Amino acid sequence: MSSSPLSDPAPEKGTALPQSQSVLHPPHDLLSDLPHTLALKSSVQQLIKLSSKAEIEAFFQTGESQHALVVSGGSNLVPPELIKGVVVQPCLTGVELLSQDSDHVWISVSAAENWHELVVYATAQGWFGLENLALIPGWVGAAPVQNIGAYGREIKDFIELVSAYDRETHAFVTLDPSECGFAYRDSVFKQNPQRWLITQITLKLSKVPNLVLGYGDLKQEAGIIPTPQSVLEAVVRIRSAKLPDWRQIPNCGSFFKNPVVSQAQADALTKQNPNMPVYPAAGGVKLAAGWLIEAVGLKGSREGALAKLGPFERQALVLVNHEPGVATQRDVAASCFKVTEAVHERFGVWLEPEPVWVDSAGRIINDPLGAKYVD
Ligand code: EPU
Repeated sequence: MSSSPLSDPAPEKGTALPQSQSVLHPPHDLLSDLPHTLALKSSVQQLIKLSSKAEIEAFFQTGESQHALVVSGGSNLVPPELIKGVVVQPCLTGVELLSQDSDHVWISVSAAENWHELVVYATAQGWFGLENLALIPGWVGAAPVQNIGAYGREIKDFIELVSAYDRETHAFVTLDPSECGFAYRDSVFKQNPQRWLITQITLKLSKVPNLVLGYGDLKQEAGIIPTPQSVLEAVVRIRSAKLPDWRQIPNCGSFFKNPVVSQAQADALTKQNPNMPVYPAAGGVKLAAGWLIEAVGLKGSREGALAKLGPFERQALVLVNHEPGVATQRDVAASCFKVTEAVHERFGVWLEPEPVWVDSAGRIINDPLGAKYVD
């Protein structure tokens, strides 16, 4: 099997890199909407889709490629009103069964495959492991960047290799997990946003179910005799009940990371707030940002700075856009300040934004709130 069995997730706007047209001479009068799920008012001077390794190689030999921003499905992105430059979108598709033994399969999946469609397809094939990661929006190429995770699983649990174009060495490379720097919503790809363009990932999946049911009410939802398929369906039900579909209510998933604080700070906070959820974490104790936002009364609020974008009424960690195509990155910042300051004032904890913010030159902004969230 070598062709793509999954749906084509590529949005309609944007231009494939034409073999005959030089990217050195883009059409200046044509702005493209930036593909992203938060539906801000946002466009880009030139959006180029790269559908093969040959196109990727050719593009990165041009001068214009130097500052080009790479976007995938755009489901974790906070773009500005206008990016004055070039955005490239890797549009390679395909799922390939590379090898198998009695217990495992190794599959290669191209960057523009839709993540959820992959989870559904793999589970139907009897290739198990991804079921807890169902219904996460976005494309495969972005999944390792923020090490997507949900319900006790992260993509790092399955990654064997990440294949990418290295913009520094101008070569196609593969990185094994030890080189990927995976951590909570983090990786070497997130830390070095201009360096690699991910083309494929290789996953090792299991032919034998190995269910992870420890998170929240997943076990209850998955039925008396849970199977990978019933877990997948349970995750879809749980997520659909809490998380907005970006096609109906634009959003980019969890807007803040769950903060990790010291044991001493967690003890002081739980003393004052006995119902506050806490989780063991590397380097301290993880708090639930959604709970903190709800506790300061901002869940579902559309007051003042939260009029255009605010914490979703069913999951406060998700910022939803009430004015698609009108609200801007500036409105997102205003909304963020409102939330982070309220949480800090009450709990002494700064929330840190989780999505990727981009400036008008197409550069990733490392510190979108101006180090406000660092004490
Ligand atoms: N909570 C509230 N009020 C809220 C939201 C949450 O009290 O408005 C409480 C919940 O009751 C629960 C705790 O906070 O006790 C955790 O909530 P939940 O299980 O919904 O998960 P989360 O920590 O808010 C994280 C991920 C999600 C992922 C879920 C499930 C981050 C930043 N977010 O959310 O990932 O789906 O766990 O594993 O780690 C994403 O990254 O975009 C994303 C949606």
